[in-house]
Amino acid sequence: MEEVIVATDTTSYPVYIGKGLLRDAAAMLRNVLNGRSKALIVTDETVAPLYGDDLLKSLEVVIPVAMHIVPAGESSKSMAVYEQVLTACMKEGLDRKSIIIALGGGVIGDLAGFAAATYMRGIPFVQVPTTLLAQDSSVGGKTGINHELGKNLIGAFHQPEAVLYDTETLSSLPDKEWRSGFAEMVKHAYIKDPEFLAWLKENVHSEADIKKDHIRGFLKRSISIKADIVKQDEKESGVRAFLNFGHTLGHALEKITGYGELTHGEAVACGMIFAMRVSNELSLSSWDIAEEASWLQALGYPVDAADRFTADELITIMKHDKKANAGDITFVLLREVGQPFLQTVEERLLHSLLTQAGWGDKA
Ligand SMILES: NC(=O)c1ccc[n+]([C@@H]2O[C@H](COP(=O)([O-])OP(=O)(O)OC[C@H]3O[C@@H](n4cnc5c(N)ncnc54)[C@H](O)[C@@H]3O)[C@@H](O)[C@H]2O)c1
Repeated sequence: MEEVIVATDTTSYPVYIGKGLLRDAAAMLRNVLNGRSKALIVTDETVAPLYGDDLLKSLEVVIPVAMHIVPAGESSKSMAVYEQVLTACMKEGLDRKSIIIALGGGVIGDLAGFAAATYMRGIPFVQVPTTLLAQDSSVGGKTGINHELGKNLIGAFHQPEAVLYDTETLSSLPDKEWRSGFAEMVKHAYIKDPEFLAWLKENVHSEADIKKDHIRGFLKRSISIKADIVKQDEKESGVRAFLNFGHTLGHALEKITGYGELTHGEAVACGMIFAMRVSNELSLSSWDIAEEASWLQALGYPVDAADRFTADELITIMKHDKKANAGDITFVLLREVGQPFLQTVEERLLHSLLTQAGWGDKA
């Protein structure tokens, strides 16, 4: 088992990474569960039949446990499902000494974490991630749900008490979810770690390579990058914003395609390539866009532009993104690997760059 400690100004917690941790959950979480009145596992209908029982059986030896199951997928990050989770907390009699356990991918972590942040003004929670993408989402304490006007617009910072990452759960992950999670790993490498990026480019050439064991071996490195950034800037008043590399266009693409057609990571991959284009256009870098795009394309990312939307439609969505400031659209750009910076991009320029890149080219 490996361990990363996430230390912020306000708290510190362990991320345990290893095979089979789920079955030992009670022992691994002993300190966290000690003195708690009840645990509510929040999970989705895909993950529940795969791993719900293992977790429930392990925990019920040490604490009364109930389970609440929501539909799988991004649509569960909604007001309606959030309300249902809070209702389950009440019906199961959770009090301020209770704890929520988020068992699933980033959707469950964000949703259950937000419920924990707000139920009775905040109760503790634990992240038990089951997707590759959750190596990013389960660490750092950002929780929240979507609004029809934009993604993650309603939320809270609420750090988990611990993260229990059983890498065995990744075995059942569909290919597109591996690809989704790998994009966030690539993002960590681009913004912080040239050596890591070089290794990924050298060793990952196909979709099959993403699923090889070596990727599990790199979880610690990827999580450590995130932990380091969160340590410096827990509430995103500075360097933490760099984690949004690829997300300005990425979030807009997820929204415009109706959440689900493109996975989060696929949209972020498109957004990273576009952000490199913007960096080049502002004469701040000299990325070989064709080379960067062809690597990601070979891994199955749809980074070639689609012509189903207009640039205006994408820009309207980007203006509602929470990273926008008074309507100004801010991008995380990259001078070179490991050198991200924030830049407001003027709407007219953005329009022309989106059109040049082929995004927003609908006739
Ligand atoms: N809070 C953060 O810091 C942060 C960071 C990045 C992304 N996110 C959020 O994370 C979400 C995306 O997370 P995700 O990609 O994990 O999505 P997800 O939770 O929807 O999981 C993807 C799909 O895989 C299924 N699944 C999960 N684990 C499985 C397993 N082990 N085997 C088989 N199927 C499994 C789920 O049921 C779902 O259908 C987005 O909402 C994004 O905004 C949050």
